[in-house]
Amino acid sequence: MNNIVWDLSLPSLKESFKKYFNFGNILAKNFFDCEETLDMFKYHYGAVTAENAMKPMYISTKPGSYDFDHTDKLVEWAYENGIDVVGHTLVWHGQSPPWLNRNPDGTYVTRSEAKSNLEEYIKHCVTHYSGRIYSWDVVNEPFRDDKEFSGNWREHLRRDTDNERAVGHWYLAYANGADAELGESGADYIFDAFYFARRYDPNATLYINEYNEESPTKREAIAQMVEEINEEWSKHPNYDGRFLIEGIGMQSHCNESTNIEDVRKSLERFCNTGAIISITEMDITFGSPENPAKPLNPEQNKRQIEMYTELFNLYKEFSAYIERVTIWGKNDLESWRAWGSPTLFGVEGEAKDSFNAVVELASK
Ligand code: XIL
Repeated sequence: MNNIVWDLSLPSLKESFKKYFNFGNILAKNFFDCEETLDMFKYHYGAVTAENAMKPMYISTKPGSYDFDHTDKLVEWAYENGIDVVGHTLVWHGQSPPWLNRNPDGTYVTRSEAKSNLEEYIKHCVTHYSGRIYSWDVVNEPFRDDKEFSGNWREHLRRDTDNERAVGHWYLAYANGADAELGESGADYIFDAFYFARRYDPNATLYINEYNEESPTKREAIAQMVEEINEEWSKHPNYDGRFLIEGIGMQSHCNESTNIEDVRKSLERFCNTGAIISITEMDITFGSPENPAKPLNPEQNKRQIEMYTELFNLYKEFSAYIERVTIWGKNDLESWRAWGSPTLFGVEGEAKDSFNAVVELASK
C-alpha cells in the first residue's frame, strides 16, 4: 500500500500509559487487509474507533436497509484481540442519510416521525452489536461555535438547514410539531437518543462527543446539558440508578493556537458533572491546508513536542477521571488533516519526537 514500516521495538503506547488510561486509535476499512497495520495496532492500542464505517451514512442508506459488513469485521477482530470498540456514532448532522430526519423533497419530517426513525435506527445499530461495543458516542457535535454562553444549553444547539458550523437536522425535525406550551422543543432529540441507546444496549457507556470543547461557551453548554439530562433521567420511571449521559468525549482536534489553560478549565468543569471523560480524536495540526506543514519545520516540531507534552501532563493529572485517550490517525500520511502533520508517527511510520516525548512522560 505504501512505504510504512512500523518499528515494534518502540515502547508500546498502551503499555506506557496503562496505569493512567486506555490508549486508542482509528482504523479505516482498507486496513483490514494489511497485517502489518493490524499487528502495529495490537501492539500500541487497546481501543479502536472506526474512522468512518460506523457512521449512519455507511450503515443505512435507506429506510429498512442496514449493512454491517465492514463494521462486523472490525468488531470481530477487536473482540478476538481484547481491544475495546468505540461506537462512533449514532446521532450526528454529518455523514448521515437524509431518510432519518428529512422527506424525499428535502423538507423535515415531523417530530413524531423523527422520534420513530431515531428509535428504529438506534435500536437496530446497538442491538446488532450488543455486548461488543464498550462505549457509544451517542450524540456527536450537537453544539454551534457561539461566542457567549446564554445561560441555556438548548440555545446553543445546531439548528440551521445548511452552514457547516451550525447545521442541525435532528433539531429541526424535532422542532417540526413541537408544542412550546408543553415545554417541547427541537432539543428533545438529545434526551431521546440517550434514552434509546440505554434501553437497547444497557451494557455500553454512553457519551456525548464534541469538538472545540475547550471553548468557554461549549464547555458550559456541554456541562449544563449533561447535568440537566442526568437530573431529568433520575426522575424518569425507567431510571436505572446510572447517569444517562455517563461520558463526555473531548475530541481534542488541536492546532498550534489551542489554549492549554482552556483545556484545563474544561477538564475541571466536565469532572464536576460527575461524568467520566475520554479524549476521543486527538491531533495537533500546524500550518493550514493552503500552507501545509509537511513536514514540520524545526520550530513547529518543537512546539508540537511542547503541546503534546503539556496536554499529556494534563491528562495524567486528570487520569482518575479519564477513561481513554484516542489519537485520530495512525501516522501523518493517513491523517484526515495530513497537511498539518498532526499525529505521533511520521509519513513512513517512524516515531516522531512528539511520540518520544509522550512516552517519556508516561514513566515520570
Ligand atoms: C472524519 C474522518 O477522519 C474523515 O475521513 C471523513 O472524511 C470526515 O470525518 N469529528 C468526528 C469524526 O467526529 O468522525 C471526523 O472524522 C473528524 C471530526
